[in-house]
Amino acid sequence: MYFGVDYHPEQWIYPYGGTRERPEAAWERDVELMQTAGVNVVRMGEFTWGLCEQEEGKYQFGWLTRVMNLLGKAGIKVVLATPTAAPPLWLARKHPEILPVDERGLIKREGTRRAVCLNSNVYWNYSKQIVENMAKALGKHPQLIAWQIDNSLGGNFTEAAFNEDTRRDWHLWLEAKYETTERLNELMGLRHWGQVVTSWDQVPMPMTAPTVHNPALVVDWCRFCSDTIVQFVKMQADLLHQLSPKCPVTTNLRPLLHRFDHFDVAEAIDFVSIESTAALKAKSAELACEIDMLRSLKKTDIRTPNGDTGFWVMEQKAGNVTWQDVNSLVRPGVLRMFTYQLVSRGATAIVFFRWRQPRFGSEKFHGAVLPHNARDTARVFKEVAQLGDEMKLLGPSLRGTHVQAETCILYSHDNDWALQQPMQPNKHFSLREHIQLFYNALHDRNLMVDFARPTEDLSRYKLVFAPSLHLLSGGEADRLKLYVQNGGTLVATFNTGLVDEHNMAPDTGYPHDLTDLFGLEVLEFDQLPPGEENHLTFKGAFPASHMHPARLWCDIIEPKDCQVIATYAKDFYAGRPAMTMHTFGLGKAIYIGTQSHQYFYNDVVTWLRQMCNLQPLLKVPDSVEVSMRQKEDTEIFFLLNHQNSPQRIQFYKPMHDFLTGNTFSGNYDLPPHGVLVLDEHPGTKT
Ligand code: GAL
Repeated sequence: MYFGVDYHPEQWIYPYGGTRERPEAAWERDVELMQTAGVNVVRMGEFTWGLCEQEEGKYQFGWLTRVMNLLGKAGIKVVLATPTAAPPLWLARKHPEILPVDERGLIKREGTRRAVCLNSNVYWNYSKQIVENMAKALGKHPQLIAWQIDNSLGGNFTEAAFNEDTRRDWHLWLEAKYETTERLNELMGLRHWGQVVTSWDQVPMPMTAPTVHNPALVVDWCRFCSDTIVQFVKMQADLLHQLSPKCPVTTNLRPLLHRFDHFDVAEAIDFVSIESTAALKAKSAELACEIDMLRSLKKTDIRTPNGDTGFWVMEQKAGNVTWQDVNSLVRPGVLRMFTYQLVSRGATAIVFFRWRQPRFGSEKFHGAVLPHNARDTARVFKEVAQLGDEMKLLGPSLRGTHVQAETCILYSHDNDWALQQPMQPNKHFSLREHIQLFYNALHDRNLMVDFARPTEDLSRYKLVFAPSLHLLSGGEADRLKLYVQNGGTLVATFNTGLVDEHNMAPDTGYPHDLTDLFGLEVLEFDQLPPGEENHLTFKGAFPASHMHPARLWCDIIEPKDCQVIATYAKDFYAGRPAMTMHTFGLGKAIYIGTQSHQYFYNDVVTWLRQMCNLQPLLKVPDSVEVSMRQKEDTEIFFLLNHQNSPQRIQFYKPMHDFLTGNTFSGNYDLPPHGVLVLDEHPGTKT
C-alpha cells in the first residue's frame, strides 16, 4: 500500500527554508519527518514548468534529481507530474495566442495556472517539448514509479476556450462526424430559427448570444471539448510510455465536476487517481457516492505501480481547503475516518494534499500535514502519522483485494450535458440529486455499488438502476434490453429516452426504443413546482413504509402489458400508473414515473433486495457505514462510525480486528468517528 504526500520542494529552498550556504537543507528535515509519518511515496512537480525551463529551451531538472536522490536514501518513491497545468510566463508573452478566450470573447490573461487554450498547436508543441525533456531527464530515475499527466484537468472552469484555434478544430471535428453540412443541418435540427449552415466555417461556437444555443449543438460542443482534453492526455501518455516505459501513467480527477468524459480519460491512462472532498463536511453517503463513481471509471486494463487493481487517491485533503467561504478545520478523527472510507472503497494508495502549508501564494492557508511552523507535534501530523503506521500494518492483508459490487447505477456524460442545458421541462430537476436518492438507499443498506456507462457489459450485476437517461442512444437502449433479456433487473425512471444521441425527440413514443422493454408508453409528463405533491397508491406486495409523495415530475403512463405497482392518487391522472414492472425475457424491467422522498427509495431497495437475492454485508446501526474488499476466500469489512457519539454494534459471530488484533463478539461500542477493519475470526467461517 502506498502512503504519502504531495510535496512542493521548490517552495522550501532558501530563503523560505535552508540557509544561504545550504539552500536545499530544509528538504533533509522534510524527508526525516516524512519517514516518521510512514510516507513511502510523494507526488511532485505539477506546477514547476516555469522553474524547470526559466528561459526557453534551457532546462533545469537537476534540482528535481537531487530531491529524488534524497528521497531515494529514505526509501521514498516518487510520482512525477508533468507541469503542463501551469505554463511559464515567457510562453504567454511570446505567444499570446495560447491564452484562452472566454464565451464573451474576452481573453483570460496570464499569471495563473491553466491560462491556456488546449486547441492551440503552439501550446501542444511546447507541452510536448517539456514533457519529452522531463521524461528524458527523470524518466529512468530509480525512485520514479509513475507519472501524473497535468493536474486537475478542466479545473478553474477551463474545459472550453473559444479561440480561433478552437474554431478550426471544432469545424474539423464536426466534418469528421457529419461528413456533409446537409447531414449536420438535418441531425442537429438547425432549421430551428433558420440557423442552417452551407459551409463548415459558418457553424458557431456556443458563445454568449441573445438566447440559448441549439442544445444539440451544445452537447456536440461538450463532446468536442472533452475529446480535446482526452487527446491532450493521450499525447502525453504516448510520450511517457515511450520514454519511461516502466512507469504507468495517471491523472488526478475530481468527482465528475469538470465537463469532460471521465470514462474516456480513464481509458487513456493506466490507472485512475482521484481527489477527495472529505474536508467539505459532505454527508458520508455523498462522499461514498463520489468515490464509487470515480473507482468505476476504469474497471479493466488497470496498471498501477505495484500491480494492484484499484485507484489512487492523489489528493486526500489533509484538512481545510481555501476555496469555500468559510474553511472550517476537519475535526480530530474525521480525517482518519474519511481516509478509511477511501481505502474501504478500493483505494490502493493515499497521498495527502499537501505536505506543508506554503508560506506564500493563494493557498497559503490550505490545510496540510505540517503547519507553517512544521512542528511534528501538530495535530494533523500526528493523525497522519498514526494512519501511516496503520497502513503499514494493513497493507499486506489488503494487497490484491478489491471491491465487488452486485448493484450498479448507470451514468453517461452525454446525458448529463444534455440535462444541463436550459429550457428543460423542470429546472428544479437535478440528475445528481436523483442519482443520490438511489445511491443513499443502497449505501444505507450496506450494498456495494458500481457506476457504469449504459454501453458497458452489465451482466455481472444483479440489479441495475438507470436514473433519468434523458439522452439515450439506440445502442444504449439495446444494451439495456440485452441485460434484462438475459435475466437482469433494471430500474429506470421518468425523464428517460426523451431524446436520442442527436438530442432529437422520438416520434415513436417515450421512452424511445424502450416501450417494449417496459411494456408501457409515456403519453405526457406533468411538472410540479417545489412544494406541490401528488401521492402514490400501492397495489400488491410493495413494502410501503410511509405515505410516498410524487414530486417534481409525473409521467402519464399508458400501460401495455406491464404490471402496475403504484398509481397516482389525484389530479386528472389519478389512477394512472406511476410505477410498473414488466417481465422481459428472463429479467424484469421496473419503471418509476416520478420522484419521491428518500423513504420511497429505501423501500424500493428493500423490495428488490429480496427479489434479486442481495445480501447486506453486515447488520449494523444506520449511522455506521460498512463496505468490503475481497479476494478469493478473504473478505475484509470496514466499519466507520460517522456520528459524534459511540454506536453499539452487535457481533453475531466472533470477528478479528486487524488494527488491534482483538476479537470481538457480542456488543461493542464503536467510538465517535471510530473505524474497525475486520474479518471473520479463523475457525468461524461457514
Ligand atoms: C486541487 C488542485 C490542487 C489544489 C487543491 C486545493 O484541485 O489539484 O493543486 O489547488 O485543489 O484544494
